[in-house]
Amino acid sequence: MVDTSGIKTSRRGFIRAGLAAGGAIATAGVARAAGDPAITELQPWMQQLGEGVDAAPYGMPSPFEANVKRRTVPWLTADPISSINFTPLHEMDGIITPNGLCFERHHGGVAAVDPAKHRLMINGLVDRELVFTMEDLMRFPRENHVYFLECAANSGMEWRGAQLNGCQFTHGMIHNVMYTGVPLRLLLEEAGVKPAGTWLLAEGADASGMTRSIPMEKALDDCLVAFKMNGEALRPEQGYPLRLVVPGWEGNMWIKWLRRFEVGDQPWEQREETSKYTDLMPDGRARKFTWAMDAKSVITNPSPQAPITHTKGPTVLTGVAWSGHGTIPRVDVTIDGGKNWHEARISGPSLDKSMHRFYFEFDWDGSALLLQSRAHDSTGYVQPTKNELRKIRGLNSIYHNNGIQTWYVNEKGEAENVEIS
Ligand code: MTE
Ligand code: CO
Repeated sequence: MVDTSGIKTSRRGFIRAGLAAGGAIATAGVARAAGDPAITELQPWMQQLGEGVDAAPYGMPSPFEANVKRRTVPWLTADPISSINFTPLHEMDGIITPNGLCFERHHGGVAAVDPAKHRLMINGLVDRELVFTMEDLMRFPRENHVYFLECAANSGMEWRGAQLNGCQFTHGMIHNVMYTGVPLRLLLEEAGVKPAGTWLLAEGADASGMTRSIPMEKALDDCLVAFKMNGEALRPEQGYPLRLVVPGWEGNMWIKWLRRFEVGDQPWEQREETSKYTDLMPDGRARKFTWAMDAKSVITNPSPQAPITHTKGPTVLTGVAWSGHGTIPRVDVTIDGGKNWHEARISGPSLDKSMHRFYFEFDWDGSALLLQSRAHDSTGYVQPTKNELRKIRGLNSIYHNNGIQTWYVNEKGEAENVEIS
Protein backbone atom coordinates (compact mmCIF):
# COMPACT_ATOMS: atom_id res chain seq x y z
CA MET A 1 0.00 0.00 0.00
CA VAL A 2 1.24 3.52 -0.76
CA ASP A 3 0.02 6.91 0.35
CA THR A 4 -2.07 8.40 -2.45
CA SER A 5 -3.06 11.58 -0.64
CA GLY A 6 -0.97 13.65 -3.05
CA ILE A 7 -2.71 12.63 -6.28
CA LYS A 8 -4.17 15.55 -8.17
CA THR A 9 -6.65 15.62 -11.01
CA SER A 10 -7.79 18.81 -12.64
CA ARG A 11 -11.41 18.05 -11.88
CA ARG A 12 -11.61 16.04 -8.68
CA GLY A 13 -8.90 17.39 -6.42
CA PHE A 14 -7.47 14.55 -4.36
CA ILE A 15 -8.02 10.84 -4.64
CA ARG A 16 -7.40 8.41 -1.78
CA ALA A 17 -6.98 4.75 -2.56
CA GLY A 18 -4.95 1.67 -1.73
CA LEU A 19 -2.53 0.50 -4.37
CA ALA A 20 -1.47 -2.97 -5.37
CA ALA A 21 2.09 -4.02 -6.02
CA GLY A 22 2.86 -5.94 -9.23
CA GLY A 23 3.17 -9.71 -9.05
CA ALA A 24 4.51 -12.55 -11.17
CA ILE A 25 2.73 -13.14 -14.46
CA ALA A 26 0.54 -16.25 -14.68
CA THR A 27 -2.02 -16.61 -17.43
CA ALA A 28 -3.68 -19.83 -16.20
CA GLY A 29 -7.41 -19.29 -15.82
CA VAL A 30 -7.66 -16.54 -18.46
CA ALA A 31 -9.42 -18.73 -21.03
CA ARG A 32 -13.13 -19.62 -20.74
CA ALA A 33 -14.61 -23.02 -19.98
CA ALA A 34 -15.72 -25.14 -22.97
CA GLY A 35 -19.42 -24.78 -23.76
CA ASP A 36 -19.36 -21.06 -24.60
CA PRO A 37 -22.16 -20.68 -27.20
CA ALA A 38 -19.93 -18.34 -29.22
CA ILE A 39 -17.88 -21.43 -30.08
CA THR A 40 -20.47 -24.22 -29.91
CA GLU A 41 -23.14 -22.50 -32.02
CA LEU A 42 -22.90 -21.61 -35.72
CA GLN A 43 -22.53 -17.88 -36.25
CA PRO A 44 -24.24 -16.06 -39.18
CA TRP A 45 -20.93 -15.62 -41.01
CA MET A 46 -20.40 -19.38 -41.01
CA GLN A 47 -23.72 -19.95 -42.75
CA GLN A 48 -23.42 -17.68 -45.75
CA LEU A 49 -20.79 -16.90 -48.34
CA GLY A 50 -18.80 -13.74 -47.88
CA GLU A 51 -18.00 -10.93 -50.30
CA GLY A 52 -15.73 -11.63 -53.24
CA VAL A 53 -12.36 -10.21 -54.15
CA ASP A 54 -13.94 -7.45 -56.23
CA ALA A 55 -15.86 -5.93 -53.29
CA ALA A 56 -13.11 -3.70 -51.92
CA PRO A 57 -10.39 -2.71 -54.44
CA TYR A 58 -8.90 -0.56 -51.69
CA GLY A 59 -9.37 -2.37 -48.38
CA MET A 60 -10.89 -0.85 -45.27
CA PRO A 61 -10.88 -2.00 -41.63
CA SER A 62 -13.67 -4.20 -40.28
CA PRO A 63 -16.85 -2.23 -39.46
CA PHE A 64 -16.37 -3.48 -35.90
CA GLU A 65 -13.29 -1.24 -35.73
CA ALA A 66 -15.26 1.94 -36.45
CA ASN A 67 -14.17 3.39 -33.11
CA VAL A 68 -10.54 3.33 -34.20
CA LYS A 69 -10.17 6.79 -35.65
CA ARG A 70 -8.53 10.17 -35.39
CA ARG A 71 -10.36 12.54 -33.09
CA THR A 72 -10.41 16.30 -32.69
CA VAL A 73 -10.88 18.52 -29.65
CA PRO A 74 -13.17 21.18 -31.16
CA TRP A 75 -12.49 23.85 -28.52
CA LEU A 76 -8.71 23.70 -29.04
CA THR A 77 -8.73 25.81 -32.20
CA ALA A 78 -11.10 28.33 -33.74
CA ASP A 79 -11.42 26.58 -37.09
CA PRO A 80 -10.92 23.01 -38.44
CA ILE A 81 -8.91 24.38 -41.40
CA SER A 82 -6.04 25.42 -39.15
CA SER A 83 -6.29 22.71 -36.57
CA ILE A 84 -5.20 19.32 -35.35
CA ASN A 85 -6.55 15.83 -34.90
CA PHE A 86 -5.05 13.04 -32.82
CA THR A 87 -3.72 9.51 -33.41
CA PRO A 88 -5.69 6.88 -31.42
CA LEU A 89 -2.63 5.49 -29.64
CA HIS A 90 -4.79 3.42 -27.27
CA GLU A 91 -6.22 1.43 -30.21
CA MET A 92 -2.87 0.52 -31.75
CA ASP A 93 -0.11 -2.00 -31.20
CA GLY A 94 3.37 -2.59 -32.56
CA ILE A 95 5.26 0.46 -33.77
CA ILE A 96 3.81 1.44 -37.17
CA THR A 97 0.97 3.95 -37.46
CA PRO A 98 -1.45 2.95 -40.25
CA ASN A 99 -1.74 5.72 -42.82
CA GLY A 100 -5.40 6.47 -42.14
CA LEU A 101 -4.71 6.99 -38.43
CA CYS A 102 -1.78 9.43 -38.64
CA PHE A 103 -2.68 12.63 -36.81
CA GLU A 104 -3.01 15.75 -38.98
CA ARG A 105 -1.83 19.27 -38.37
CA HIS A 106 -2.50 21.86 -41.05
CA HIS A 107 -2.25 25.63 -41.02
CA GLY A 108 -4.31 26.12 -44.17
CA GLY A 109 -6.17 22.85 -44.76
CA VAL A 110 -5.12 19.90 -46.94
CA ALA A 111 -3.71 21.03 -50.28
CA ALA A 112 -5.15 19.02 -53.21
CA VAL A 113 -1.99 18.77 -55.33
CA ASP A 114 -1.88 17.28 -58.86
CA PRO A 115 1.42 15.35 -58.90
CA ALA A 116 1.84 15.92 -62.65
CA LYS A 117 1.96 19.68 -61.98
CA HIS A 118 3.95 19.49 -58.80
CA ARG A 119 7.55 20.74 -58.83
CA LEU A 120 10.39 20.93 -56.33
CA MET A 121 12.75 23.87 -56.76
CA ILE A 122 16.16 24.52 -55.23
CA ASN A 123 17.37 28.12 -55.41
CA GLY A 124 19.41 30.67 -53.45
CA LEU A 125 23.08 30.15 -52.67
CA VAL A 126 23.64 27.29 -55.13
CA ASP A 127 25.76 26.83 -58.25
CA ARG A 128 22.73 25.73 -60.31
CA GLU A 129 19.10 26.54 -59.55
CA LEU A 130 17.11 23.37 -60.23
CA VAL A 131 13.50 22.32 -60.71
CA PHE A 132 12.49 18.66 -60.32
CA THR A 133 9.28 16.94 -61.41
CA MET A 134 8.07 13.93 -59.43
CA GLU A 135 9.41 11.73 -62.24
CA ASP A 136 12.83 13.36 -61.97
CA LEU A 137 12.93 12.58 -58.25
CA MET A 138 12.17 8.90 -58.94
CA ARG A 139 15.51 8.66 -60.80
CA PHE A 140 17.55 9.37 -57.67
CA PRO A 141 18.61 6.56 -55.30
CA ARG A 142 16.04 6.18 -52.55
CA GLU A 143 16.07 4.95 -48.97
CA ASN A 144 13.57 3.49 -46.50
CA HIS A 145 13.48 4.59 -42.85
CA VAL A 146 11.00 4.37 -40.00
CA TYR A 147 10.76 7.64 -38.07
CA PHE A 148 8.37 9.19 -35.59
CA LEU A 149 6.98 12.65 -36.26
CA GLU A 150 5.92 14.45 -33.08
CA CYS A 151 4.39 17.92 -33.10
CA ALA A 152 6.25 20.17 -30.65
CA ALA A 153 2.83 20.95 -29.14
CA ASN A 154 2.17 17.31 -28.21
CA SER A 155 1.19 17.21 -24.49
CA GLY A 156 1.22 21.01 -24.59
CA MET A 157 -2.15 21.21 -22.84
CA GLU A 158 -0.68 19.37 -19.84
CA TRP A 159 1.89 21.95 -18.70
CA ARG A 160 -0.30 23.39 -15.96
CA GLY A 161 -1.80 20.12 -14.77
CA ALA A 162 -3.68 17.00 -15.85
CA GLN A 163 -6.12 18.18 -18.49
CA LEU A 164 -7.22 15.87 -21.31
CA ASN A 165 -8.63 12.44 -20.54
CA GLY A 166 -6.98 10.01 -22.88
CA CYS A 167 -3.56 9.31 -24.37
CA GLN A 168 -5.07 10.04 -27.79
CA PHE A 169 -5.41 13.66 -26.68
CA THR A 170 -2.44 14.01 -24.33
CA HIS A 171 0.08 12.19 -26.60
CA GLY A 172 -1.62 11.62 -29.97
CA MET A 173 0.20 14.34 -31.95
CA ILE A 174 2.65 11.67 -33.08
CA HIS A 175 2.86 9.03 -35.78
CA ASN A 176 5.50 6.50 -36.75
CA VAL A 177 5.79 5.61 -40.40
CA MET A 178 8.19 3.98 -42.84
CA TYR A 179 9.16 6.63 -45.39
CA THR A 180 10.56 6.07 -48.83
CA GLY A 181 12.41 9.04 -50.23
CA VAL A 182 15.53 10.56 -51.70
CA PRO A 183 18.23 11.77 -49.29
CA LEU A 184 18.06 15.57 -49.40
CA ARG A 185 21.87 15.58 -49.53
CA LEU A 186 21.78 14.10 -53.06
CA LEU A 187 19.52 16.89 -54.36
CA LEU A 188 21.64 19.57 -52.69
CA GLU A 189 24.78 18.05 -54.19
CA GLU A 190 23.12 18.20 -57.59
CA ALA A 191 22.47 21.93 -57.09
CA GLY A 192 25.91 22.58 -55.55
CA VAL A 193 25.57 24.48 -52.25
CA LYS A 194 27.84 27.52 -52.12
CA PRO A 195 30.22 27.72 -49.11
CA ALA A 196 28.13 30.52 -47.54
CA GLY A 197 24.99 28.33 -47.69
CA THR A 198 24.51 27.29 -44.07
CA TRP A 199 20.70 27.37 -43.87
CA LEU A 200 17.86 25.99 -45.90
CA LEU A 201 14.33 27.34 -46.14
CA ALA A 202 11.73 24.65 -46.89
CA GLU A 203 8.43 25.87 -48.36
CA GLY A 204 5.06 24.12 -48.70
CA ALA A 205 2.57 24.46 -51.57
CA ASP A 206 -0.46 24.71 -49.28
CA ALA A 207 -2.55 27.85 -48.84
CA SER A 208 -0.64 28.65 -45.64
CA GLY A 209 2.58 28.69 -47.69
CA MET A 210 4.28 27.28 -44.67
CA THR A 211 8.06 27.74 -44.41
CA ARG A 212 10.69 26.62 -41.92
CA SER A 213 14.46 27.06 -41.70
CA ILE A 214 16.66 23.99 -41.36
CA PRO A 215 20.39 24.15 -40.58
CA MET A 216 22.44 22.84 -43.53
CA GLU A 217 24.19 20.33 -41.26
CA LYS A 218 20.89 18.55 -40.58
CA ALA A 219 19.79 18.81 -44.21
CA LEU A 220 22.99 17.05 -45.34
CA ASP A 221 22.85 14.51 -42.53
CA ASP A 222 19.62 12.47 -42.56
CA CYS A 223 16.75 14.50 -44.07
CA LEU A 224 14.67 12.84 -46.78
CA VAL A 225 12.44 14.17 -49.51
CA ALA A 226 9.75 11.49 -49.16
CA PHE A 227 6.97 10.41 -51.49
CA LYS A 228 5.85 7.16 -49.88
CA MET A 229 4.61 6.27 -46.40
CA ASN A 230 4.21 2.64 -45.31
CA GLY A 231 4.75 1.59 -48.91
CA GLU A 232 2.06 3.67 -50.61
CA ALA A 233 1.92 7.26 -51.80
CA LEU A 234 1.79 9.87 -49.03
CA ARG A 235 -1.78 10.60 -48.01
CA PRO A 236 -3.03 14.09 -49.00
CA GLU A 237 -3.19 14.92 -45.28
CA GLN A 238 0.48 14.04 -44.90
CA GLY A 239 1.70 16.19 -47.80
CA TYR A 240 0.98 14.30 -51.06
CA PRO A 241 2.92 14.09 -53.27
CA LEU A 242 6.08 15.22 -51.43
CA ARG A 243 7.12 16.02 -47.87
CA LEU A 244 10.27 16.78 -46.00
CA VAL A 245 11.34 14.26 -43.34
CA VAL A 246 13.50 15.73 -40.56
CA PRO A 247 14.29 12.71 -38.34
CA GLY A 248 13.96 13.24 -34.59
CA TRP A 249 13.13 16.93 -34.93
CA GLU A 250 9.82 18.67 -34.19
CA GLY A 251 7.00 18.00 -36.65
CA ASN A 252 6.67 21.65 -37.62
CA MET A 253 9.86 21.39 -39.71
CA TRP A 254 8.57 18.44 -41.75
CA ILE A 255 7.15 20.64 -44.51
CA LYS A 256 4.27 19.00 -46.40
CA TRP A 257 3.37 19.53 -50.08
CA LEU A 258 7.07 20.44 -50.36
CA ARG A 259 7.73 22.75 -53.33
CA ARG A 260 10.91 24.70 -52.71
CA PHE A 261 14.22 24.88 -50.90
CA GLU A 262 16.08 28.14 -50.73
CA VAL A 263 19.70 28.02 -49.58
CA GLY A 264 20.70 30.98 -47.43
CA ASP A 265 23.28 32.10 -44.91
CA GLN A 266 21.03 32.58 -41.86
CA PRO A 267 17.73 31.31 -40.50
CA TRP A 268 14.73 33.09 -42.02
CA GLU A 269 12.92 33.16 -38.68
CA GLN A 270 15.81 35.26 -37.33
CA ARG A 271 15.48 37.79 -40.16
CA GLU A 272 11.76 38.20 -39.82
CA GLU A 273 11.63 37.47 -36.11
CA THR A 274 8.76 35.09 -36.74
CA SER A 275 10.05 31.94 -35.08
CA LYS A 276 6.77 30.50 -33.86
CA TYR A 277 7.87 27.41 -32.01
CA THR A 278 9.77 28.91 -29.09
CA ASP A 279 9.54 27.94 -25.43
CA LEU A 280 8.63 30.85 -23.17
CA MET A 281 10.60 30.59 -19.93
CA PRO A 282 9.49 31.77 -16.47
CA ASP A 283 11.69 34.89 -16.72
CA GLY A 284 10.03 35.98 -19.96
CA ARG A 285 12.94 34.97 -22.20
CA ALA A 286 12.32 32.33 -24.87
CA ARG A 287 14.19 29.17 -25.78
CA LYS A 288 14.68 29.14 -29.55
CA PHE A 289 15.80 26.46 -31.97
CA THR A 290 14.83 23.57 -29.68
CA TRP A 291 14.45 21.19 -32.56
CA ALA A 292 15.24 17.67 -31.37
CA MET A 293 12.44 15.93 -29.49
CA ASP A 294 13.67 14.58 -26.16
CA ALA A 295 12.91 11.04 -24.97
CA LYS A 296 9.31 10.44 -24.00
CA SER A 297 6.92 7.58 -23.36
CA VAL A 298 3.28 6.94 -22.50
CA ILE A 299 1.27 3.95 -21.34
CA THR A 300 -1.43 3.47 -23.97
CA ASN A 301 -3.27 0.59 -22.24
CA PRO A 302 -4.74 0.82 -19.71
CA SER A 303 -5.58 4.52 -20.15
CA PRO A 304 -8.73 6.64 -19.89
CA GLN A 305 -10.11 5.55 -23.28
CA ALA A 306 -8.96 1.96 -22.74
CA PRO A 307 -9.97 0.85 -19.23
CA ILE A 308 -9.27 -2.61 -17.80
CA THR A 309 -12.40 -4.61 -18.66
CA HIS A 310 -11.73 -7.77 -16.62
CA THR A 311 -11.91 -8.02 -12.84
CA LYS A 312 -8.48 -9.13 -11.67
CA GLY A 313 -5.66 -11.47 -12.63
CA PRO A 314 -3.33 -11.42 -15.61
CA THR A 315 -3.23 -7.95 -17.14
CA VAL A 316 -1.17 -6.56 -20.00
CA LEU A 317 0.16 -3.03 -19.72
CA THR A 318 1.61 -1.57 -22.92
CA GLY A 319 2.83 1.70 -24.31
CA VAL A 320 5.20 3.49 -26.67
CA ALA A 321 8.50 5.32 -26.21
CA TRP A 322 10.67 7.37 -28.56
CA SER A 323 13.59 9.77 -28.68
CA GLY A 324 14.78 12.27 -31.24
CA HIS A 325 18.34 11.52 -30.13
CA GLY A 326 18.50 7.78 -30.89
CA THR A 327 16.95 4.52 -29.76
CA ILE A 328 15.20 3.48 -26.53
CA PRO A 329 17.19 0.70 -24.87
CA ARG A 330 15.04 0.70 -21.74
CA VAL A 331 11.62 1.70 -20.38
CA ASP A 332 10.69 1.45 -16.69
CA VAL A 333 7.10 1.19 -15.53
CA THR A 334 5.46 1.51 -12.15
CA ILE A 335 1.92 0.49 -11.17
CA ASP A 336 2.11 2.00 -7.69
CA GLY A 337 3.00 5.61 -8.39
CA GLY A 338 6.77 5.17 -8.35
CA LYS A 339 7.20 3.11 -5.20
CA ASN A 340 8.43 0.16 -7.26
CA TRP A 341 9.80 0.40 -10.81
CA HIS A 342 10.00 -2.57 -13.17
CA GLU A 343 11.90 -2.85 -16.43
CA ALA A 344 9.37 -3.24 -19.25
CA ARG A 345 9.84 -5.67 -22.14
CA ILE A 346 10.53 -3.96 -25.47
CA SER A 347 9.16 -5.97 -28.41
CA GLY A 348 9.61 -5.20 -32.08
CA PRO A 349 12.32 -3.29 -33.94
CA SER A 350 14.47 -0.85 -31.98
CA LEU A 351 15.20 1.73 -34.67
CA ASP A 352 16.90 5.12 -34.51
CA LYS A 353 14.40 7.98 -33.97
CA SER A 354 11.47 5.59 -34.18
CA MET A 355 8.73 4.56 -31.79
CA HIS A 356 9.40 1.55 -29.59
CA ARG A 357 6.71 -0.73 -28.16
CA PHE A 358 6.94 -1.91 -24.56
CA TYR A 359 4.92 -4.34 -22.43
CA PHE A 360 4.63 -5.14 -18.75
CA GLU A 361 2.48 -8.11 -17.77
CA PHE A 362 1.25 -8.20 -14.17
CA ASP A 363 -1.24 -9.97 -11.96
CA TRP A 364 -3.78 -7.31 -11.01
CA ASP A 365 -5.21 -7.82 -7.53
CA GLY A 366 -8.18 -5.59 -8.36
CA SER A 367 -7.11 -2.60 -6.26
CA ALA A 368 -6.39 0.91 -7.55
CA LEU A 369 -3.23 1.60 -9.55
CA LEU A 370 -1.05 4.57 -10.39
CA LEU A 371 0.62 3.88 -13.74
CA GLN A 372 3.70 5.63 -15.11
CA SER A 373 6.37 4.88 -17.70
CA ARG A 374 9.86 6.35 -17.94
CA ALA A 375 11.96 6.13 -21.10
CA HIS A 376 15.77 5.95 -21.23
CA ASP A 377 17.37 6.79 -24.56
CA SER A 378 20.63 5.63 -26.12
CA THR A 379 22.43 8.82 -25.01
CA GLY A 380 21.71 7.92 -21.34
CA TYR A 381 19.03 10.63 -21.00
CA VAL A 382 16.12 9.68 -18.73
CA GLN A 383 12.59 11.08 -19.24
CA PRO A 384 11.93 13.66 -16.47
CA THR A 385 8.85 14.08 -14.30
CA LYS A 386 6.52 16.96 -15.17
CA ASN A 387 7.57 18.73 -11.98
CA GLU A 388 11.27 18.40 -12.85
CA LEU A 389 10.48 20.03 -16.21
CA ARG A 390 8.41 22.78 -14.60
CA LYS A 391 11.28 23.67 -12.23
CA ILE A 392 13.38 24.65 -15.24
CA ARG A 393 10.78 25.69 -17.79
CA GLY A 394 8.01 27.20 -15.65
CA LEU A 395 4.36 27.11 -16.71
CA ASN A 396 4.37 29.43 -19.74
CA SER A 397 5.49 26.83 -22.25
CA ILE A 398 3.27 25.07 -24.73
CA TYR A 399 5.91 23.14 -26.59
CA HIS A 400 8.28 20.28 -25.78
CA ASN A 401 6.54 18.73 -22.80
CA ASN A 402 8.12 15.28 -22.43
CA GLY A 403 7.25 14.78 -18.75
CA ILE A 404 6.16 11.46 -17.26
CA GLN A 405 2.42 10.79 -17.62
CA THR A 406 0.38 9.30 -14.76
CA TRP A 407 -2.88 7.35 -15.09
CA TYR A 408 -4.95 6.55 -12.01
CA VAL A 409 -6.87 3.26 -12.40
CA ASN A 410 -9.69 2.62 -9.92
CA GLU A 411 -10.98 -0.73 -8.63
CA LYS A 412 -13.41 -0.93 -11.56
CA GLY A 413 -10.52 -0.63 -14.02
CA GLU A 414 -11.48 2.91 -15.13
CA ALA A 415 -8.51 5.16 -15.81
CA GLU A 416 -8.05 8.90 -15.38
CA ASN A 417 -5.39 11.50 -16.16
CA VAL A 418 -3.83 12.62 -12.86
CA GLU A 419 -0.64 14.04 -11.43
CA ILE A 420 1.23 12.97 -8.33
CA SER A 421 2.62 15.95 -6.43
N1 MTE B 1 3.67 21.75 -43.78
C1 MTE B 1 2.83 22.57 -44.43
N2 MTE B 1 3.08 22.86 -45.71
N3 MTE B 1 1.75 23.13 -43.82
C2 MTE B 1 1.46 22.85 -42.50
O1 MTE B 1 0.46 23.36 -41.97
N4 MTE B 1 2.19 21.71 -40.43
C3 MTE B 1 3.41 21.31 -39.71
C4 MTE B 1 4.17 20.23 -40.48
N5 MTE B 1 4.30 20.60 -41.87
C5 MTE B 1 2.34 21.99 -41.77
C6 MTE B 1 3.43 21.43 -42.48
C7 MTE B 1 3.19 20.84 -38.36
S1 MTE B 1 3.01 21.99 -37.13
C8 MTE B 1 3.28 19.51 -38.04
S2 MTE B 1 3.23 18.99 -36.43
C9 MTE B 1 3.42 18.47 -39.09
O2 MTE B 1 3.46 19.01 -40.39
C10 MTE B 1 2.25 17.52 -39.01
O3 MTE B 1 2.37 16.50 -39.94
P1 MTE B 1 1.15 15.53 -40.20
O4 MTE B 1 -0.05 16.33 -40.58
O5 MTE B 1 1.62 14.56 -41.23
O6 MTE B 1 0.88 14.81 -38.88
CO1 CO C 1 3.18 20.83 -35.20
